[in-house]
Amino acid sequence: MEESGLYVCNIPVESLNISPFVMVIFGGTGDLSQKKLLPALFHTFVDHRFPHDSIILGVGTRPRSIEEYREFAMESVRKNCREKPGEGCLASFASHISYLPMDVTREEHYELLHNFLKEHESAKNGIIYYLAVQPEFSPVIIEKLNAAMITARFPAGKVVMEKPFGWDRPSAEELNGIALAAFREQNIFRIDHYLAKDTVQNIMFFRFSNSIFEPLWNRLYIDHVQITVAEEIGIGARGRFYEKTGVVRDIVQNHLLQLIALTAMEPPAAFEADLIRNERVKVFRALRPMNDETIDRLTVRGQYGPGRIGGEAVRGYREEELVDRGSATPTFFAGVFHIDNWRWAGVPFYVRAGKRLASGITRISIHFKQPPLKLFSSTCDTLDPDVLVLTIQPEERISIHFGVKYPGKANTIYPVTMDFNYDEAFHIRRHPPYEKILVDLMKGDLTLFARQDEIEAAWSVVDPITKRWDEVKPGDFPDYEAGTWGPPEAAELIQRDGRMWL
Ligand code: BG6
Repeated sequence: MEESGLYVCNIPVESLNISPFVMVIFGGTGDLSQKKLLPALFHTFVDHRFPHDSIILGVGTRPRSIEEYREFAMESVRKNCREKPGEGCLASFASHISYLPMDVTREEHYELLHNFLKEHESAKNGIIYYLAVQPEFSPVIIEKLNAAMITARFPAGKVVMEKPFGWDRPSAEELNGIALAAFREQNIFRIDHYLAKDTVQNIMFFRFSNSIFEPLWNRLYIDHVQITVAEEIGIGARGRFYEKTGVVRDIVQNHLLQLIALTAMEPPAAFEADLIRNERVKVFRALRPMNDETIDRLTVRGQYGPGRIGGEAVRGYREEELVDRGSATPTFFAGVFHIDNWRWAGVPFYVRAGKRLASGITRISIHFKQPPLKLFSSTCDTLDPDVLVLTIQPEERISIHFGVKYPGKANTIYPVTMDFNYDEAFHIRRHPPYEKILVDLMKGDLTLFARQDEIEAAWSVVDPITKRWDEVKPGDFPDYEAGTWGPPEAAELIQRDGRMWL
């Protein structure tokens, strides 16, 4: 494709040939539906990215009329949509929406769902069961759909689950067993919304479409890798959920490990879902298992106390709603991972994630080794090593830090940055992750979804950490002030190896 004199390689995208379907949203009145799903469905509808004879069925516990639920859906779109929606468009979108009040724990209520599906022709093409519910309800719903023979009567069904997938490896295996008893693996869509971020997908494009970096992408040239998933926000109203989860189950087991996998994986044989997922899972399996001694030495946990974010006073974790006043739940993680394979032997991956940190940023930095000979050592004892930084959010940028000669007679090396910013380069509207997820789901493309073995392997990495941390309670929580970079031990963790966080 020619664009302003440039040749743009347009990777062929298969046509969106999607048949009309029924999407059943369990948790149709919940937070996720309101903030993400309904607005994203509206956008895919407006963009003509799904067939207009499809039906969205919201399922909730409270009795509501279809009209009331349509009004709820339109209001959710108005409040959470990225651009002000046209009222005509909204009404047209709403005409595809229906509602079913149902107690998902009661088997007899599934008869009502069955009757609804029987009446709708599009259900024959495929049903998408979106489980936008608290994690403990996912297995219950799948078991009941199976017991009521709905999955057998409509065999083309797909099920969509949100993380966390279980609380540890045994519960994840159990959940996977329940899901596989009702659906085939290629019809199970496990969402890690990080994988659907354009910027996260770009890690693969950047690595595997540029020949200048790939030869350097290994232990011979890379000194270490750093990954930061830092949030300014606290836990909001999710105290009950977060008390059970903590940072390791909420971020490390999924988003952070996926970033490690995309940075470290081998090139897949082709850009196909299973081939890519095979490579991701190989990274999880190569992560060196930790024992009590290495957990104590190579990981740091923390919990935020009161502090200031953006000039405003914010409360500490223990003062948040629905949080135990003496809670030992960690909101910060730092650790050093090692990947035991040929590419990465000896290259530490320093990672950290936390809430209420000094800035909201997700970033991967590749720190290259020092040149073999310090030619300029008479004037420069230490050189700043070259660093490649992939910033994922809030802005998407790729920067290279390197040294040049400072102008003048002296032999002075000066650190400079070459910077590429996506938004400045392309003035194109980006599709937020949920829109991408929905379209892939409708198409049946599994690339951006996690596979059963990936989830289980990722739990095997973090289970020893959560177990150790449960056994040895922290004596010093809260141990970092909101608005800082976590407890001092996080800085010491990397400084001990003669390195520093970027
Ligand atoms: C979710 C976590 O999966 O990801 C939240 O449960 C976290 O705690 C969120 O805030 C971060 O996602 P994003 O897209 O805002 O970086």
